[in-house]
Amino acid sequence: MLPEPAITIRRATGTDLDLVAALYEQLVQDQVSRGWTGRPTPADESRRYIARRLQRADVHYLVASSAGAPVGFVEAALLLPPAPRAVRLFRRLVPDRHPRAALGYIHNIFVTADGRGAGVGSSLLTAAIAALKAQGIKRLRAHVIPGNEASFALFAKAGLLPTQTAVEGEV
Ligand SMILES: CC(C)(COP(=O)(O)OP(=O)(O)OC[C@H]1O[C@@H](n2cnc3c(N)ncnc32)[C@H](O)[C@@H]1OP(=O)(O)O)[C@@H](O)C(=O)NCCC(=O)NCCS
Repeated sequence: MLPEPAITIRRATGTDLDLVAALYEQLVQDQVSRGWTGRPTPADESRRYIARRLQRADVHYLVASSAGAPVGFVEAALLLPPAPRAVRLFRRLVPDRHPRAALGYIHNIFVTADGRGAGVGSSLLTAAIAALKAQGIKRLRAHVIPGNEASFALFAKAGLLPTQTAVEGEV
């Protein structure tokens, strides 16, 4: 049996805009097909949004490659800006088990259909967590569409379990 090709993860830069935008569009299609209730942003608008965020040091776009070919990406960032000094001091005196300022968020994570089930998603998530931890996060959040078992399994492996569930429908 041939060995699994090595997965490499690297930080995306401005020159990766085409690649990240193309993977993002595949993710949008995937989420729509799973019943996502949001309204997809037009591709050119998403592209401008990604271009802006690729320039930001505090936003982590990581790209995964397998055998040299891109197979996925993750976008992760702090959910809230870091707390000012006075708030950090207060929290040290009065510990908060869920300090909001220490919350990271996985905005997007996607692996191409052919690349799934080989550990790429886990590698991306692990690298995103490391990058966010370097910014001081203690907790991490993501949103998952009901029925997306692969995504639930991926996050559960990293210790992220379902919390509240929103209910929504046409009325
Ligand atoms: C979710 C996704 C990123 C996972 O990527 P992946 O590379 O297939 O994940 P991994 O191979 O690292 O698997 C992670 C864990 O999930 C499990 N898993 C993967 N696919 C699964 C499936 N279809 N059903 C149940 N568990 C699954 C794996 O077994 C693994 O756990 P293990 O190591 O204990 O065996 C990928 O399926 C994807 O891109 N889906 C479409 C986009 C999407 O839904 N993104 C998430 C939005 S919240």
